[in-house]
Amino acid sequence: MIEAKNVCLRFPNGIRALNEFDLQVNPGDMIYVTGPSGSGKTSLLKLFMGIEYPTSGSLTVLGEPMPSGQTDRIRRLRRLIGPVFQEFKLIDGRTAMDNVLLGMRFLGLPREQIQENAHQALLKVGLEQKAFALVENLSWGERQRVAIARAVARKPVLILADEPTGNLDKNNALKILDLLTSFINDKTAVIITTHATHLIDAEKPGKVIRMDQGNLTWERRG
Ligand SMILES: Nc1ncnc2c1ncn2[C@@H]1O[C@H](COP(=O)(O)OP(=O)(O)OP(=O)(O)O)[C@@H](O)[C@H]1O
Ligand SMILES: [Mg+2]
Repeated sequence: MIEAKNVCLRFPNGIRALNEFDLQVNPGDMIYVTGPSGSGKTSLLKLFMGIEYPTSGSLTVLGEPMPSGQTDRIRRLRRLIGPVFQEFKLIDGRTAMDNVLLGMRFLGLPREQIQENAHQALLKVGLEQKAFALVENLSWGERQRVAIARAVARKPVLILADEPTGNLDKNNALKILDLLTSFINDKTAVIITTHATHLIDAEKPGKVIRMDQGNLTWERRG
């Protein structure tokens, strides 16, 4: 699903966010990306979403070589990805349901399918009772779950969750990790960035990567 070879990402200000990394992600993988603040975790996910492009090296995401000069191909690629952003990017003044529906705006699905997907996703994350609450009135953990519902309602084959356990207590953080793990199947991979290495259960399946100043090293190959 993802093939990266010697990939570097350098920002115009000279900061090298990612340094010559190699990575392969296969369907069914659960990958935890760990590492300190500023080590390049979000930058890594941005490359996979086609928000940033490699400065050098070769990167293929879901069969699409990056960079791709063609915006329609990137748009098509993004339809297959379920992003959960570090800062959620939910729309205040709208309900949880609206936010999930808006996440499916450009997928070209029939209206009934969109509504069914949204309903199922909110049910799956345990927020059916809060479907019509305004997102700004939800707790942090509930907002995190709306963001996850919005991502999974799209039925993505690649779920990219940036720091989904941030600002949650241990119990809720573990629930979020279990929830994200539940979306893995033989067609779908999940990549999660997290500071919370102590929450990664050694018994559970999953591969662990550590980032440090843009360098990537494997901790566990699962
Ligand atoms: N758009 C940008 N322009 C310039 N530098 C950037 C940009 N985005 C990120 N950086 C820099 O790249 C490095 C990696 O940032 P990144 O956001 O990927 O870290 P992170 O591991 O996600 O950190 P955190 O755990 O705090 O979320 C940092 O030094 C950051 O300041
Ligand atoms: Mg980050």
